[in-house]
Amino acid sequence: MSSADAARVLRDALNLHGYRYHTLDTPTISDAEYDQLFLQLQKLEEQHPELKTSDSPTLRVGGAPLPEFSQVQHGVPMLSLNNGFADDDVLAFDRRVREGLDDASSEMEYAIDLKFDGLAINLRYINGVFAQAATRGDGYTGEDVTENIRTIRSIPLRLHTDHPPAMLDVRGEVLMFKSDFEKLNQRQRDLGAKEFANPRNAAAGSLRQLDSKITAQRSLRFFAYGIGTLEGATLPATHRDLLSWYQSMGIPTCEENAVVLGAQGLLAFYRSIQEKRAQLAYEIDGVVYKLNRFDLQERLGFVSRAPRFAIAHKFPAEEAFTTVLDIEVQVGRTGAITPVARLAPVFVGGVTVTNATLHNEEEVQRKDVRVGDTVIVRRAGDVIPEVLASVPEKRPEHSQAFVLPAQCPICGSPIVKLEDEAIARCTGGWIKCAAQRKGGLFHFASRKALNIDGMGEQLIDQLVDKNVVTTAADFYKLGLMALAELDRMAEKSAQNILDALETSKSTSLPRFIYALGIRHVGESTAKDLALYFADMEALMAANEEQLLQVNDVGPVVAQSIMSFFADPFNVELVHQLIASGIHWPAIEKVDLSAAVFAGKTLVLTGTLPSLSREQASALIERRGGKVAGSVSKKTSYVVAGEDAGSKLVKATELGVPVLTEEALLAMCSA
Ligand code: IVH
Repeated sequence: MSSADAARVLRDALNLHGYRYHTLDTPTISDAEYDQLFLQLQKLEEQHPELKTSDSPTLRVGGAPLPEFSQVQHGVPMLSLNNGFADDDVLAFDRRVREGLDDASSEMEYAIDLKFDGLAINLRYINGVFAQAATRGDGYTGEDVTENIRTIRSIPLRLHTDHPPAMLDVRGEVLMFKSDFEKLNQRQRDLGAKEFANPRNAAAGSLRQLDSKITAQRSLRFFAYGIGTLEGATLPATHRDLLSWYQSMGIPTCEENAVVLGAQGLLAFYRSIQEKRAQLAYEIDGVVYKLNRFDLQERLGFVSRAPRFAIAHKFPAEEAFTTVLDIEVQVGRTGAITPVARLAPVFVGGVTVTNATLHNEEEVQRKDVRVGDTVIVRRAGDVIPEVLASVPEKRPEHSQAFVLPAQCPICGSPIVKLEDEAIARCTGGWIKCAAQRKGGLFHFASRKALNIDGMGEQLIDQLVDKNVVTTAADFYKLGLMALAELDRMAEKSAQNILDALETSKSTSLPRFIYALGIRHVGESTAKDLALYFADMEALMAANEEQLLQVNDVGPVVAQSIMSFFADPFNVELVHQLIASGIHWPAIEKVDLSAAVFAGKTLVLTGTLPSLSREQASALIERRGGKVAGSVSKKTSYVVAGEDAGSKLVKATELGVPVLTEEALLAMCSA
């Protein structure tokens, strides 16, 4: 074979395997084999530079840094979208569309895409070969980011078609997946470099690099959703057909999309995506509705800079700017010190937020959040609001870096930080520190623990401050008189509390174990402990060897349980609680030896469509299986989700059966 033929064969093979890996997610060769081919091509191109073509995958590693980005004129302007937030905005959009088409009575057919939170990009293909990429810029002129875009592995350098259009401008969004964003920030932390506030900023920062070698190290992705100039081919009839055409040519499109009828169809999709949003691998800030038929789109045209045929239906913003009024520390039930930012009230994620967690001292210092700073706050779903980043450009003069107090603001005991922990703790313990006492009591009474209805934070504050209650056992010594004497407590409510206390005495062993607030023993470990020991005395007497037999219990958890029960105070507390009448039904020890995964080892990889990693692990373990971190010949099954990487490849190589989430669930319910 001539060198030219060899180079072509290698190029085509690498482009195909790259596509199979990065776009289809079904690699057929190992990473090592891919690297081997890549090296061969690199060598060949070094010996014969004339063989290096513009669609060569070797160019994906980035080239020499540019002095600056040059400007690119867009053939067809890249315009923006009008936004809607409320259902009414969508109904009004649909009405305008129907009226604009003089067809008020028909249900329109709409194509729906996700509104990706990234950067809009135009990719130009000339005769099927990737030729240029430009940012949106002001819509008319953007920046030439060709070399950076070339490093995005899922973007084809040559279209998979024998009849490419003479010219095609593909429009879409460059974004960073959440998992890649987490990895990037971890790397930034390891390097002591500044972290990115969110995946969008990370994508923007990665794309606007004059040195494309840096971009090449950042995992960026692309989803196509539009078209600019098209020459030498016929435009498909609908938006949906356009996406299918793209897909057939190897251009990545997002699988989450739909074609629906009428406004009700739009709203139904919006709701379904809102539910799925947190599970998606990438961030979106809404959905985009477009008339499906291009001829109808054209009839409606544009007003000023936005199309009449499309609208973005946005989710309530999850991030907002506000200012830090103060930074205080909170003391948790284990003494953990959490710095909390008091904020100027800001509406974000659908509620008004006045406090946001700063997690721990290290985080505050790394993010360098100071009193007076302008910050980005995030509140997503039911997650506690957090400060993502500060905007140092807007920092007032003479501001001071945050330092953790040396003493607990509640009990004055020293605050210490163990070497291997990020978290500082108050050393006062239960006895000295009222904050820890209150936290422990609140945990004991909480819904997933003994579920004492009405025993909220304010009531516990009073009971502790008035020294009526010190330990959980004191709850059950409360009488009507003591309760009725408290502020804002009518006899009726006092009686309700007593009734709730009485009801709480009928509980379950897992709840009781969880309620004790042993460090590292959460709800699911409490369940596992209850299943294994079936008896409180047995748990209290357990040694390390026995504890390590329990699902999910490692040396750290075992140690924590043993030291909890080594304290006579805690043993006495358990006895007092039982003596006051707390009881639970006997637990039958379960025999997992006949369960579906008994004796089997499973490995999880990638993002599963609906189960979290923890949920999938629990499911497997409750059926007798073990979950391991790496694939070997001994692995019984690999459960693979989206973005499964080398573990999936290894499973295929070793002939380990691969399960989808669906298959896993089916086996579990069989
Ligand atoms: S269509 C004529 N579809 O939204 C306008 N845009 O406000 C065509 N965006 O800068 C835009 N996801 O970055 C469209 N599925 C999607 C989108 C999307 C995100 C962004 C895009 C653009 C902005 C327009």
